[in-house]
Amino acid sequence: MPLISEITALRATIQDWRRQGLRIGFVPTMGNLHAGHLQLVKTARQHSDKVVVSIFVNPLQFDRASDLSAYPRTLEQDCQHLSGLADAVFTPTPELMYPNGQQQQTRVIVPGISQVLEGALRPGHFDGVSTVVCKLFNLVQPDVACFGEKDYQQLALIRKMVSDLNMPIELIGVPTVRAENGLALSSRNGYLTQSELAQAPALAATMHAIAERISAGEREFAALVQDASARLNDQGFVTDAIDIVDASTLLPMTEHSQAVVILMAAFLGKARLIDNQVVSL
Ligand code: PAF
Repeated sequence: MPLISEITALRATIQDWRRQGLRIGFVPTMGNLHAGHLQLVKTARQHSDKVVVSIFVNPLQFDRASDLSAYPRTLEQDCQHLSGLADAVFTPTPELMYPNGQQQQTRVIVPGISQVLEGALRPGHFDGVSTVVCKLFNLVQPDVACFGEKDYQQLALIRKMVSDLNMPIELIGVPTVRAENGLALSSRNGYLTQSELAQAPALAATMHAIAERISAGEREFAALVQDASARLNDQGFVTDAIDIVDASTLLPMTEHSQAVVILMAAFLGKARLIDNQVVSL
């Protein structure tokens, strides 16, 4: 499995596959791979002949420099995980991706969706995501790309970008992979201490409890959010945001809504954990 760190080499590999008429799958990542990422790669394999995985800790999407520098970089271990699953791993540097510096980089901004919810809490974050994903799509030119449903708003953002910019790419959302105790797998779980790891499944449990109450007919979302937030805070979390919004628009539910999504974000120690669940109405 070649490790490619130059654009010319990446393009040559892709061109060679294209000449052979092969279908190309793509999984963008920031590394520190876990079973959730590997599920994305396996899904990409099922829908393509060759799979490219990118590993790039994208500085443009971090709102805090301390978060960027602390982000785990585990390239050797990542390559071991990918061996036999991926056909090429693209590992660009920030200088290769942003040769004129981050300030001078042309941005791709997805209006609306990038500014609400998580986007309002982390200004500029989603602009960094859409910009890097657009650049990676231009470099890899995949037929199909896989993203985790765990990052619900990110997937919605990429779907809108692909549609608005007429990119001929099939997007596949892959269901969240969970530990047996319900905790959604995430690179950020690595920041948790042993005791926090034992507390962490409470996030998913609280979310499932809200989902049950909505399924049972409750529509007082503000009260549900308040209860859930208090419950999490009692269990050692610091709730950052809990939102219940229309699952398609990410806007407040209306009489036309067919499903809502519960979006959870809470700090546990140093880790900011997120999760989500869609509930049909
Ligand atoms: O989900 C991620 O890991 C990142 O946001 C992505 C899509 C690789 C862009 O940097």
